[in-house]
Amino acid sequence: MNEANNRNVQYESLMTKLKSILLKDDHIISNMAIISAEIMQTFNFHWVGFYICDDRESLLYLGPYQGPLPCTRIAYGKGVCGSCWENQQTLIVSNVHEFPGHIACSDKSNSEIVVPLIHQDKVVAVLDIDSDKYDDFSSLDQDYLEKILALLR
Ligand code: SME
Repeated sequence: MNEANNRNVQYESLMTKLKSILLKDDHIISNMAIISAEIMQTFNFHWVGFYICDDRESLLYLGPYQGPLPCTRIAYGKGVCGSCWENQQTLIVSNVHEFPGHIACSDKSNSEIVVPLIHQDKVVAVLDIDSDKYDDFSSLDQDYLEKILALLR
């Protein structure tokens, strides 16, 4: 089985598990914590977590995460996360060192995917995943991660 097929199978079983354990009645922060932990348990990425939008301050503040200590605030439009918020769409960065304005929370991160959580046409949070491998994310990750975030709506 090649790597893409394998990742596909891992996402399928992750989706099945998340559908059975995420409860709509639970607080969104609890569900974000479960999603971060389950993605990390499945793929062992370098960093997985949420940043939550604060419209009044125009910044993202750190939400539930797994991995080494990251930065706690990111301004609107800054870095990969702030750009995802501004553009309201998923960003895949195959080499973070070439992304203008990339915020390096860890020198081990080499590629990154950031997926917006959209509620009533507004970005309310972003899911950020960092990999120590270059070019580790594709449209396969985008499709599944967008489906995973749809479970939070
Ligand atoms: N690299 C991100 C910052 C967050 S950390 O990777 C956890 C960015 O450029 O927005």
